[in-house]
Amino acid sequence: MVDIGAGAATVAVALQEALGNARQRRIEYVAFDPNLMMRALGERILGHVAKGFRSARYVPTLDDLDPNDGHRMLFAFSYVAHQDAVTTDHLEQWVSVIKEAVDAADRAVELIYTTAANLSGDKFPELGAMLKRAGITPKTKPVRVKVQRRYPSMDGSDGRVGWDWQDRNWQVQAEHWVLRS
Ligand SMILES: C[S@@+](CC[C@H](N)C(=O)[O-])C[C@H]1O[C@@H](n2cnc3c(N)ncnc32)[C@H](O)[C@@H]1O
Repeated sequence: MVDIGAGAATVAVALQEALGNARQRRIEYVAFDPNLMMRALGERILGHVAKGFRSARYVPTLDDLDPNDGHRMLFAFSYVAHQDAVTTDHLEQWVSVIKEAVDAADRAVELIYTTAANLSGDKFPELGAMLKRAGITPKTKPVRVKVQRRYPSMDGSDGRVGWDWQDRNWQVQAEHWVLRS
């Protein structure tokens, strides 16, 4: 799994929460984030969750990805699609690493993206068009996500953190793309 715009490795934490030990153990988690502070935080978080994965690490640049890594490859973009800091140059770089992975592989390369619904400035339609121009037609499937809002709350006097659950759900938009040339 290649987590682009990984921030503090939240996708790794979510995988640990969602998967059983056996499935998590099969995953090589590779994170990239250009923000050095987020990366430093994420590396500390990986210090707690890495042992559940086959391997887990940050790469300093996208050039450090190995397109032949792994049996299947899933790119994750979690809450990166609307970032103002994402430019056309970045999209071109993403297309290039995704294309390398698709060309290297005799297997499906997949992509999943999640973002806040109903915001303008989603860059993924443009990414899809750029992939098509590069000879890769994404087969896209919407993903239905229902996440109830919750906020941390202090429970009692022992300082433990609990959750304050809200009635509303987060407005999440998510898609799963299967990529072949
Ligand atoms: C809202 S955070 C999401 C972090 C994490 N993926 C999550 O879901 O919690 C957006 C992240 O995108 C990163 N980012 C911004 N521009 C980027 C780019 N061009 N390429 C990769 N990551 C980028 C930021 O540094 C930030 O960590």
